Parts: sequence; C-alpha cells; structure tokens
Amino acid sequence: MGRKRSSRIAGLGRYVPRRVLTNADLERMVDTTDEWITVRTGIKERRVAAPEEATSDLAVEAAREALEQAGVDASDLDLILVGTASPDMIFPATACLVQERLGAKRAGAVDISAACSSFVYALSLAHGQVVSGLAERVLVVGADTLSRITNWKDRATCVLFGDSAGAAVVVPSDGERGLLSFWLGADGGGGSVLSLPAGGSRLPASYETVERAQHYIHMNGPEVFKFASRIIPRAIEEACQRAGLSVEEVDVFIPHQANVRIIQAAAERLGQPREKFYVNVHKYGNTSSASVPVALYEAVEEGRVRPGDLVVLVAFGGGLTWASCALRWG
Ligand code: ACO
Repeated sequence: MGRKRSSRIAGLGRYVPRRVLTNADLERMVDTTDEWITVRTGIKERRVAAPEEATSDLAVEAAREALEQAGVDASDLDLILVGTASPDMIFPATACLVQERLGAKRAGAVDISAACSSFVYALSLAHGQVVSGLAERVLVVGADTLSRITNWKDRATCVLFGDSAGAAVVVPSDGERGLLSFWLGADGGGGSVLSLPAGGSRLPASYETVERAQHYIHMNGPEVFKFASRIIPRAIEEACQRAGLSVEEVDVFIPHQANVRIIQAAAERLGQPREKFYVNVHKYGNTSSASVPVALYEAVEEGRVRPGDLVVLVAFGGGLTWASCALRWG
C-alpha cells in the first residue's frame, strides 16, 4: 500500500537588498545608540531596498532561486502565494505581479496577509493544496519592504525592521520527509497592539492621516514582546504534538527573527538549549514575512539544517497571529 500523499519543500530562495543600514547609521538619524539596539534586540544591521525596488521585485528574485533549486519551471506552477504586509499596492495582489514577471501562466496567484506569520500561514495553505491534489507545484514567497511603512522619526520602531524576501517551492511527497504538521492561530482582540492604521477602508488616505503618521507601523513593543515570549513555546509544542514528536527530538528551531531576547525567553520557557534556535536577526533585523524563509535558507546553506533533520518553523505577528510547522528536511 502506498504512503499517504504529503508535501515537501523542493527548493528555497532568498533575496536581500544590497544596501546595509548599520546601528551607527541609525545613531545619526534618531536619538539612539548601537548599545541600546544591540542589548534590547540583538540587531546590528539591516538591509534597505533601493528606491526603485518594491516588494514584488524582492519576491521575484527569491522565487527565481527557489524554482532553480527545485528544478521547476515557472510555467509548471499551479499556484503562487505571496505572504506580505507591505504589498506593492492594495490591489492587484503582489502575487499577480510576481506571476507575470515569472511567466507562470498556468498559476493562480493570491496574497496572504498575516503580518510576520504570513509565510508559515501560506506554507500551510500550499501543503493543503498539494495534499488534497488541487495543486502539484506551489510557489510560496514571504516578502516585505517594511522600510516603506516605517516611521523613520520613531526610534521605538525604526531600529527594528529590514527588507528581504524568501521563497519555497512545495511539491508532493510520499516519503517520511517533508511537511509534517501545522498549527495556525489568531487573537483578533490584540489587533491594536501592532497595526498600520490608515490607507484602508476604515481610515482612507487623507491629509490628516498623513499628518498623524497613520500610514506607518504602530506598535506597542512591550505587549508584542510578552505575547511572543508566551506564544512561541506554545506553538512549538503544538506543532510537535500534532506530528507525534517530542520537543526534545527537534534538531533546529527556526523562529521568526524579531528580537534575540524573545528567542532566548522562548528557549528558556521550553527548557531547550539556545543553540538549537537559529538566529540571523543581527544581520537583517525583523523582515516580517521574509524572516522565517530567509532564516531556513541560511540554516540549510550553513549546514545547520541537514537532510533528515527535524525542524520546527514558528512565527508570530500582527493580527495578532501565530503559526508553526514541523518538518523533516530533505
Ligand atoms: N533607542 C534608545 N532608547 C529607546 C529606543 C531606541 N531606539 N526605543 C525606545 N527607547 C527607550 C524608550 O523610550 C524607553 O525610555 P523610558 O524608559 O525613558 O520611557 C526605554 O527605551 C525602554 O523602552 P521599552 O519599549 O520599554 O523597551 P523594551 O525593553 O520593551 O524594548 C522593544 C523595546 C525592543 C521594541 C521590545 O519591546 C520588543 O522587541 N518588542 C517586540 C517587537 C516585535 O517583536 N515586533 C514584531 C513585529 S512583527 C510584525 O508583524 C511587524
């Protein structure tokens, strides 16, 4: 008897803009210090998109690499999912712009909006499409240019974010390797903790919304910190339980890269060594939807994640939302 149809990641891609913005650069822009940023967040530098680059441009670069790694032609894609909190525009979807640029003529295309959890949410939808047989090859991208929705006069937020894109190609799998379990969650009651208030139907763009800086990210940092430190261990445990595995069996955790202290707190709560948590937040800051796929890409590239390893992806973000995924790499 054949195994149950599952799905796996056949290829990964990453794109980070060339321009580096260091903490020293930020010291010249707002009232902050390298020491404050390093101690409170672990971030040393971040990437900023070039003026002519938008989210779809970053997404296309990451997608091309993922397709090449997977050996999949864009014209064979059935579906493109782009997770983003900073689309090129409200509509058309950034996924449609990516579809056109890639020449993925057969693919449906839609954006997934779950702030920093978007990539893991999208990965779970891709898994469902593949497992159900609705799709054979799905491109999942997490891409954000938060620099465009960051208030560069607000020191409490502008030191935290960066721009980048990560991508994965999801295909069927009948082996033991691949995507094993997911847990998606939301607490809509926490929506005001992290939001971009204006530019939608509630507060359409006006002179007032621009004057009040309502087209930028608004965040209650300490509340997000508390939420994240609580939900990450819970989401890791749930993904493991759903896969029939124990947390101890996990080789590498790939957490959303927002703040090294959040990752440390989660490791402590779980009673797991900090070394099992992959960290690259010092290089890129919080790149929202791109953070988990870029971290997974780099963990694989550096040999931290090897074929056969048990990996747990875990993300949290505005919504409030969270998402976790257990997978066997390879
Ligand atoms: N430089 C210097 N001082 C600063 C800066 C800065 N860049 N920013 C804030 N401060 C000051 C504050 O004004 C405050 O001063 P006060 O005590 O005189 O009032 C002091 O530093 C402490 O501020 P807090 O906000 O309490 O600092 P905290 O230790 O909580 O760290 C931080 C702030 C880093 C934002 C933390 O709360 C955090 O990481 N929160 C989570 C953020 C996050 O993960 N966001 C995810 C977003 S996901 C998405 O969907 C986009």
